[in-house]
Amino acid sequence: MQDPPALKELFEDDFIIGVALNLNQISGNEPEAMALMEKHCNSISPEDVLKWGEVHPEPDEYHFEPADCFVALGEKHKMFVVGHALVWHQQTPDWVFLDASGRPVDRAELLERMRGHIASVAGRYKGRIHGWDVVNEAVDDDGRMRKSKWLEIVGEDYAQKAFEFAHAADPDAALYYNDYSLCAPVKRDGVIRLIRDLQSRGVRVDGIGIQGHWSLDYPERLDDLEQSILAFSELGLDVMITELDVSVLPFPDPQRGADVSLHFEKKKEWDPYPEVLPDAVQEKLARRYSEFFRIFHKHRDKISRVTLWGVHDGQSWLNRWPIRGRTDYPLLFDRAYRAKPAFGAVVKTACATNE
Ligand code: XIL
Repeated sequence: MQDPPALKELFEDDFIIGVALNLNQISGNEPEAMALMEKHCNSISPEDVLKWGEVHPEPDEYHFEPADCFVALGEKHKMFVVGHALVWHQQTPDWVFLDASGRPVDRAELLERMRGHIASVAGRYKGRIHGWDVVNEAVDDDGRMRKSKWLEIVGEDYAQKAFEFAHAADPDAALYYNDYSLCAPVKRDGVIRLIRDLQSRGVRVDGIGIQGHWSLDYPERLDDLEQSILAFSELGLDVMITELDVSVLPFPDPQRGADVSLHFEKKKEWDPYPEVLPDAVQEKLARRYSEFFRIFHKHRDKISRVTLWGVHDGQSWLNRWPIRGRTDYPLLFDRAYRAKPAFGAVVKTACATNE
């Protein structure tokens, strides 16, 4: 069989191709995955190691070793290194919001903690991490600011502060807002309001990451994806497809998106392909990837990066979320590191001419 072409070369004139790496891969325990990353990608994101809880688990304790390895890996391969994520309501330890006696801290203290965290983390990798997800998932499905501890304690300007602190920590890093369900018009409008508000206050935001936690039937209308790409680009921002994975499994809740706190008990019917993915579904997945990449390619003047949330099916978080212990097939390489039909479908879109 012919050696598959490298995605980063196929899309060279269009956008960069990124992938998220987990701790095991960063630690050097999965050379097969690293070979795929090296061949196909020119950008990496850390799946978990730069989240607050991982890198700053206790008030005076930073755990930089895995992140140091991650950044060194990106440098070794001359990649565009993404940092993820500075301010988020998930995977952030409780202590961040509490004082020594267990009571909520006040605005000034929380802002100081936020500043200190961003200065330490983004500051440590100044000039080496090229773009940061500064604020992750601040908008709720109803388009309003999410009722998180950040909002509750600091107030509506917490996002502004996060971007300002990040800019101060590394003036040359690109600064992004990243979120899921951004094809949904109500949430899209909420994010546009947030960005416009930041822009009107003179806050620098460089890009929006559209998390691509999608499936065979979600988002329902591809037109919604196109509308979001256009609308975000009209704000003068770089648009990125971050966290791309396409689930083939049924989703147990009418509320879609990617709320990491969702959890459901496993039932047999929710895990229809525990051994192997039937050819017909494999083909559906390939068609779906093809549809998505046709849109990315069509809007390549607006999209700067497409990042897959994992190298291969075996490592995907979708095997654990929102139900533990399922077998999903959401990526371009299978559990044996072989290119799937979806990979071939993506390759074809790189050569397609625009309609
Ligand atoms: C996920 C990781 O993939 C998992 O390893 C972890 O257990 C939970 O978080 N939105 C985000 C990502 O911004 O950080 C999340 O990543 C998926 C949803």
